[in-house]
Amino acid sequence: MGEGHLPVLVDEVVSSLAIGSGSSVADCTVGGGGHAERLLGTTSPDGRLLGIDADRAAIAEAKRVLAPFGDRVLLRQANFEAIYDTAMDAGVVPLDAVLFDLGLSSYQLADATRGFSFAADAPPDMRFDETRGLSALELIERSSERELAGILATFGEERRAGRIAKAIVAARAQDRIVTAADLAAVVAAAAPGRPGGADAGRIHPATRTFQALRIAVNREVEVLSAGLAGALASLRPGGRMAVISYHSIEDRIVKRFMVRESRDCIEDPLPPACTCGHRAQLRAVTKGVITAGADEVRGNRRARSAKLRVAEKLA
Ligand SMILES: C[S@@+](CC[C@H](N)C(=O)[O-])C[C@H]1O[C@@H](n2cnc3c(N)ncnc32)[C@H](O)[C@@H]1O
Repeated sequence: MGEGHLPVLVDEVVSSLAIGSGSSVADCTVGGGGHAERLLGTTSPDGRLLGIDADRAAIAEAKRVLAPFGDRVLLRQANFEAIYDTAMDAGVVPLDAVLFDLGLSSYQLADATRGFSFAADAPPDMRFDETRGLSALELIERSSERELAGILATFGEERRAGRIAKAIVAARAQDRIVTAADLAAVVAAAAPGRPGGADAGRIHPATRTFQALRIAVNREVEVLSAGLAGALASLRPGGRMAVISYHSIEDRIVKRFMVRESRDCIEDPLPPACTCGHRAQLRAVTKGVITAGADEVRGNRRARSAKLRVAEKLA
């Protein structure tokens, strides 16, 4: 499958999920099985793990890596928006713990045929499940300049969205976008140097464009919200969910979900007496976010932007 993938914040995930022998865990983003391997070690000798991934190649890799754990492992190619149904079908509900390690893996980034990287000499596809929905190239071909600018602004928080969308539409009209590398070059020429945001100056000019297209083609905002709700429904009282996110859009969704589900009343502004009937189902385990230490970041670039949040389902 290409280069290896180093799992992020593994010790922190394992300790904050508070699992042990016999626990049932769902890894909603099993990828290359890095976290799953540690979770299975922690729940040995008889804990079970349901590994879900939308990507067929990831499931194949997880199957290979997790083979030593035998029938303690159940793998399903599915979108985690369906975690509740998938876990019910697999017979593992109620779960003791659920993990989401969001985004893409190093395997996917390194596989040029998937078009996730700026250098890829293949069409920008960017779908986790290549059999569903539009590829990034198809999205580019079918969107108006205004729609593209909206995608880049909303999902990439790209300040130069208008300028980049205009350049992409002009390049598209001349058939100049065939590969992901072509797309990256068009963006870099339209908006060289500092992309908008706090990490300006240190990242490729097309970073936010690629992030935005990936989020759009995989419906990441929608499926994350559904996945978090499904995970909560799948947990036993006292069970925990851990979520690692890699950019502010994901982290905001996770934070808002955990804050909302930790409140008895979600009316805004809070009335003197609650009329919405909402009841808290979670309590935050982490105060704010857990991030990687300097040593981990030195050995694993992906850890730089990782943010871990953990919450426990109330009785
Ligand atoms: C960061 S990687 C996970 C790596 C894994 N934790 C490991 O240690 O090897 C994220 C994985 O989540 C998968 N993924 C992303 N969004 C998904 C979704 N909505 N449903 C299922 N899998 C998804 C990707 O295909 C990718 O394999």
